[in-house]
Amino acid sequence: MSAMSSLFIGLIAVAFVVSMASPCLAAGAAPGRPAVDDPARSDRHTLGNPGQVRVGHLDLDLTVDFPRKELRGVAILEFQRQPGAPPDAPLFLDTRGLTIDEVGIGTMKPGQASPAPFAPARFQLGPKDPILGARLTIELTPQATHVRIAYRTAPTASALQWLEPALTAGKRQPFLFTQSEAIHARTWIPLQDSPGVRITYAATVRVPPGLTAVMAADAQVQPEEARQGVFRFAMPQPIPSYLIAMAAGDLVFHALGPRTGVWAEPSVLAAAAHEFHDVEAMVGSIEKRFGPYRWGRSDILVLPPSFPFGGMENPKLTFATPTILAGDRSLVSLIAHELAHSWSGNLVTNATWRDFWLNEGFTTYLERRIIEDLYGSDRAAMESVLGLAELRQELREKPAPDQVLHIDLTGRDPDDGMTRIPYEKGALLLRTLEKAFGRSRFDDFLRSYFDRFAFQSITTADFVAYLKDHLLLDRDEAQAIDLAAWLEGPGLPAGFAEPKSTRLDAVDQAARSWLDGSRATDQLGSGDWTTHEWIRFLQALPEELPGDRLAELDRAFGLTGRGNAEIAHQWLLIAIRNGYAPADDRLKSYLTTIGRRKLVLPLFRAMLATPAGRQRAEAIYATARPGYHPITAESIDRLLKEGR
Ligand code: BES
Ligand code: ZN
Repeated sequence: MSAMSSLFIGLIAVAFVVSMASPCLAAGAAPGRPAVDDPARSDRHTLGNPGQVRVGHLDLDLTVDFPRKELRGVAILEFQRQPGAPPDAPLFLDTRGLTIDEVGIGTMKPGQASPAPFAPARFQLGPKDPILGARLTIELTPQATHVRIAYRTAPTASALQWLEPALTAGKRQPFLFTQSEAIHARTWIPLQDSPGVRITYAATVRVPPGLTAVMAADAQVQPEEARQGVFRFAMPQPIPSYLIAMAAGDLVFHALGPRTGVWAEPSVLAAAAHEFHDVEAMVGSIEKRFGPYRWGRSDILVLPPSFPFGGMENPKLTFATPTILAGDRSLVSLIAHELAHSWSGNLVTNATWRDFWLNEGFTTYLERRIIEDLYGSDRAAMESVLGLAELRQELREKPAPDQVLHIDLTGRDPDDGMTRIPYEKGALLLRTLEKAFGRSRFDDFLRSYFDRFAFQSITTADFVAYLKDHLLLDRDEAQAIDLAAWLEGPGLPAGFAEPKSTRLDAVDQAARSWLDGSRATDQLGSGDWTTHEWIRFLQALPEELPGDRLAELDRAFGLTGRGNAEIAHQWLLIAIRNGYAPADDRLKSYLTTIGRRKLVLPLFRAMLATPAGRQRAEAIYATARPGYHPITAESIDRLLKEGR
């Protein structure tokens, strides 16, 4: 059905005007929250109308079709009309690139177990916005409680990566995974794709026999069904849509602790189990200070190397890049980070993408606390100092409005907000509060914050109000903290709690004396350097270095041959800037096997500095792009187009 009666279009127009006139599009009605018509609460990145008709539960049944690169199936959404909404208000959902085959509406009557039968409903897909997608409007009756949508995804859906067997570790089976944050869920499920809307869900995933499907949810798998490729899941905790996640491939499981374990392709499993040995202890480390882990299991899924991010905090099942499998557990802060999101982000969620720093700043702070607890303050300090260096670099590159924690992303892709600023500046705000009020008072505050807002989505204003009432009060320590400068201003406010690391200071010293010739390569003192010290050393070197000095380092420390993806990244940056040819093959293999955006994008950017480098970048990219995720490919496409 696609043609709409003019009557219905009229109805929609009226409903549209009503919803636009009401400022509470993404309003929630939890006790004790600020006024629901607070304009800060309205999410600019949804076309849904949760302020009028709010979805609360999803039932999903999807078939995974690898040859067509298509998910196909049915979504049943249960919704509730919000107080004050007109009885005939339609339901607005987000979609992007979805083909809607059929829509029905049903009513769950008291005492009944199902809303079926579904009666055909009028629906319409609105105009396409390149970022937001197309609104799906469904006409409702006043009695309706459910809609049933039969639909298909596009092969280009930005949340999905369909991998040919050649791009997996095992090379025999295909692989599929989703990445919904920030607003990609709408490319695989029609829903109200706003972090201010929380839903529970149940799902059935049908894959070709022989493959295993996993979701970031409780598995309710029956062995007999699983052999036939049918996997069932439930998510009983209310979550925002960006946390809905699925993967399918040749996957096996290894238990790490009573409630932790790892999923990976068979050939990767042992290395992953070794690397993630400390995960159970990490969960315990946050629990003892910041409140119970409220999600049941906490597993990790190791994805193929094309995963565009380092990690994604999908509830109960963190998705992680294999580039952190360094062999020596030196890159596990990423796992600590994703775990910490089980408190900051998944439990207490940013209500809009303007408030993203509430997710990432808090999480970066908690991540460092876990690292300190498990591996000591030296390592935590090194990671904080490396983070600060990245932040300073980003602050040099970004215009003032983008340096603000409470950033206005209206009209932009919310993924643009994923800079070091919400992470590191946000973490520094919390660190500064910790220093001002003392660790024990600050820990108590954080714990009470997680309890107070558990399973809610909150804005920056909600946080500020809670902070003022529960920590700042009228205490003297509060005088030193200029919240407006932190949240609404650019740069780093004066008096921030600057992290220091004597170990990295020593590395800086070693780099300086190596450069001025007063220390020979074999006198660097690098014998016991950890990954962090190597990264610092390579970052401390000047952009330009003569080829013989690079060769000297390479000979002494085998840098071109390093398997650690972060160290290799720093070394390859230096190699590109200085045209160091012995690293050429390594660069090519790096860029054609890894698709993590943070690791590959800066290398392409560095190559573009010279005409010969641009040629090389384009040649390598031609080979690499088919293996990249749409998110990484999009960023590099944009980069290559700039300055053309
Ligand atoms: N939630 C983010 C990933 C994300 C953010 C995806 C915004 C899409 C949009 C995740 O927790 C994260 O921050 N990952 C980092 C690693 C972390 C250790 C800083 C990454 O992937 O680089
Ligand atoms: Zn994060």
